[in-house]
Amino acid sequence: MIVAITGIILILFVVGHLLGNLQIFLGPDWINSYSEHLRELGPLLWAIRIFLLATVIVHIYVTIRLAIANRRARPKSYIDKENVKATFASRHMVMSGLIVLAFIIYHLAHFTFRKTDPRFGLLKLDPLNRYDVYSMMVYGFQNYVVSGFYVFALFLLFLHLSHGSSSFFQSLGLNNKKLEPRLALGGRIFAWLLFIGYASIPVAILLGLIKPAQQL
Ligand code: HEM
Repeated sequence: MIVAITGIILILFVVGHLLGNLQIFLGPDWINSYSEHLRELGPLLWAIRIFLLATVIVHIYVTIRLAIANRRARPKSYIDKENVKATFASRHMVMSGLIVLAFIIYHLAHFTFRKTDPRFGLLKLDPLNRYDVYSMMVYGFQNYVVSGFYVFALFLLFLHLSHGSSSFFQSLGLNNKKLEPRLALGGRIFAWLLFIGYASIPVAILLGLIKPAQQL
């Protein structure tokens, strides 16, 4: 239940963050003003950040403990293990989750603390005196290696959520035989939509569809 509840909170963040990021398609004014509004939240933003961080830590701690308990329950592995029903995504939740965690750490260094790309410090404020998040994202994703890593990590997030987003119904006892296939399909469609939404940003930038608002 703890994994399910922390998972739902993180899913809500991922959906909200995507809606915020998609504003890049509406132009610099939208995304720069969105980022400025977030910053203006001040102490509330910090409260949300600390809450999200605590949620991630609890989610990881409990899932790893569960994985260890599962292994201890059957110390000798099966001689002949055939997966009857478990999908690839469901069998690799710990691995996909840990890679997504590594991505988040890199992502924070990249766009929040802006430590990985010295050009971000050279960006001038936009005409309304806001940090130019729009141009930062465009310069950031014009790099094929960076964009490639994002798309890879987003795919793992997709794998993680395609199982996780429907299995929380099971964990909370809200599932039954009739509902199960529909929930599984719904979870997969939901995860695909998130993947397409997020990946569309680096892909559009690499294709030259979005250009920086200022030259460096
Ligand atoms: C193409 C994909 C993504 C883009 C373009 C993107 C963009 C951004 C940007 C621009 C910021 C900095 C906001 C600011 O300081 O004004 C940010 C922060 C953040 N992103 Fe992402 N992001 C992406 C994917 C993700 C994913 C998949 C996750 C989580 C699974 C994530 C988690 C975060 C977190 C936790 C922050 C810190 C928020 C804060 O300032 O407290 N991002 N992202």
